[in-house]
This record gives sequence, C-alpha cells and structure tokens, in this order.
Amino acid sequence: MKKEEVFRLIDRLERDHSLQEQEYMALLDNQETGAPYAAPKARAAADRIYGHDIYVRGLIEFSNYCSNDCYYCGIRAGNRSCVRYRLTPEQILNCCGLGWQLGYRTFVLQSGEDAWFTDERLCALIQEIKRRWPDCALTLSIGEKSRESYAACRQAGADRYLIRHETASPAHYARLHPARQTLQARLRCIRDLRELGYAVGIGMMVGSPWQTTKDLAMDLKLIEDFQPEMCGIGPFLPHHQTPFAGFPRGSTEQTLYLLSLIRLICPHVLLPATTALGTADPFGREKGVLAGANVIMPNLSPVGVRRQYELYDGKICTGEESAQCRGCQEERMRSIGYRVVTDRGDPR
Ligand code: SAM
Ligand code: FES
Repeated sequence: MKKEEVFRLIDRLERDHSLQEQEYMALLDNQETGAPYAAPKARAAADRIYGHDIYVRGLIEFSNYCSNDCYYCGIRAGNRSCVRYRLTPEQILNCCGLGWQLGYRTFVLQSGEDAWFTDERLCALIQEIKRRWPDCALTLSIGEKSRESYAACRQAGADRYLIRHETASPAHYARLHPARQTLQARLRCIRDLRELGYAVGIGMMVGSPWQTTKDLAMDLKLIEDFQPEMCGIGPFLPHHQTPFAGFPRGSTEQTLYLLSLIRLICPHVLLPATTALGTADPFGREKGVLAGANVIMPNLSPVGVRRQYELYDGKICTGEESAQCRGCQEERMRSIGYRVVTDRGDPR
C-alpha cells in the first residue's frame, strides 16, 4: 500500500472513529508507515480530552487461586507448581488504606476465579471499602460470573469492571482456552456488566499464539462497536509453566501501534500503559503514554505475594514496595512531560 493511502486511512479514522475490518487489516499490515503517523495524532486526541494528566489505579492482586485454565496464563488451574495465596479481607483493606495515603483514588481488585470469594464475602468487602473510602472508585477484575453476582457487586458499590475479551475471533479464542471457556460466555459477561451500569473495560493480548492480522482487525471492530469505557491491551508474554511456554512474546511496537489506533477509535477511552508493556520494554509505559495511553496501574499488592501473581515470566515490580512503585511511576511520567494526578479519573 502506498504511504499516502495509509495516511488517508489514519486521517479518516481520526475524523470518523471507524473503519471497515479490511481497512484495519491494511493499517496493521502497514505498521512501519502507520505507527509514526498515528502516534502523534493519538497523543493529541488524548491531550485534547485529558491534557497531560495520567490517572493511576492501585492494583491489588488479592488471590491467585483460579478455576480457569487459560493456556497462556501462569496462574491457570493446571499449573500445579504455582504457589497459591489469598489475601484476607483485612489485608485487602490495608492495601487500600496504604493506597489512599499514596494518593490513589481508584482501587482495582484483581484475582483468579476464586470461589472462596462468594458473593457474600465480596459484597461485604466492597461495602467496607466504599464505607471507608467513599471518594474512591472501585474496579473489579475477577473474571466470569453470573449476572446475579455482577448485580450484587454493583449494588454493593463496585463502579467498574475489567474483563478482557482476549480475542474477538471465536476460532482463535478456542485455541487459547479449553473447550469449556467460550467467547460467547465472555461476551455475555461483558454485555451484562454494561447493562448493570458498570464502566466496562475490554481488551486483548497482542501477539498471542496463532493471532492473525484479521483477528486483530476483529478486535478493533469489536472495540469500535462496543465503545468500552476502558481498554486493556498488552503484549502476550510466555510463562514457562504453561502450554504456551515455547511461543514468542508479542511485539512492543505492535502493541504501541494498537494503542494509537484504539485512541483514535475511542478518543475518550481510559487506556492503560500496562505492566506487560512495561515488562516487554524497559520504557514500555512511557512509550505507551506517548502512543496515546492515559492510565497506569502501579502495584499495591503486599510485596510478599507479588511474585506468586506471575501471569508471565519476568513480570516487573515484584520486589518494589508500593510507595516505591508510586514514586517510580510518577518520575517516569514526569520524564516525558506528563503528570500523575490524584483523581478518580472517571470516564469522560
Ligand atoms: N481472572 C480475571 C480474568 O480472567 O479476567 C482477571 C485476572 S487475568 C490474570 C488478567 C489478564 O491477564 C487477562 O485478561 C490476560 O489478558 C492477562 N494475561 C494472562 N496471562 C498473560 C500472559 N501470559 N501474557 C500477557 N497477558 C496475560
Ligand atoms: Fe514499580 Fe517502577 S513502577 S518499580
């Protein structure tokens, strides 16, 4: 494709926030030309809405017990070598308290699919967090549940929910998960969450095994159609104790390009520069922001358990205290002319 045609497609995406699947494929096939053209446009789109503010979310990885068996994930049920842990509600509340002192006004509670956390226990925890820190937003990232459970958590005070669709292609989804986990079920969760009034975050891994350009174009089309409030994408990174141990990692450059395209599709979206991106590249999070991201999610989990929440090999920030991560991220953002703000950072 000629350079001018690539530029024209990106100009149209910037203007209309929409392209055909084939056109997304063409853009993905012309990354070298497209990425340097899309990034400043994506950054400008984010700046117009959010300025140079970067929102922080305190991530609390509260349990690595998981009944699911996603082939890519280090804490999958099938990984018998994974040492399991579960924070008590009191420990989780302590993390929030520390987070509040560090200036976090959004807490993200993330875990595997852990049945110990029944609706009753979860709701009690959510209510207590909202009672103690009423000025904070609470995000859940705890996987697939019944509509009733989602409704109960929402009723208890949860504001947002992160649940990546992982891949919009049913055939690709089937290669990344065992047969009992389906894209259909995942999309049902995503629709329920939206209907229940959560701000919803979807997203995919970049460069997961067998992913094609068409799969990624389908992901972009899904993002365009669903208009999520948040969108989490990061490179696939192999974990040595999973069936995907031998696959190559996803590309930082392609992830950055996709961040830019997503920003142009949904200018208002809350778009994190993820830990996986920071793991793939020492300046991944800075590069992510410069490509259009506007959220970072420093780790608030107790240092003692961080290594056990190992989704992929080499995960960064497992040895740092929460306060260190906070300072480190602030400095990283400052170094590229952006500032971390103490704000709930609600979707606009
Ligand atoms: N259990 C919840 C769920 O499934 O939504 C939340 C936790 S899950 C570990 C969070 C995300 O980690 C997944 O949506 C997946 O995209 C990402 N992830 C898991 N394994 C990964 C890997 N090997 N490389 C990159 N990202 C990975
Ligand atoms: Fe954790 Fe930099 S963000 S050490």
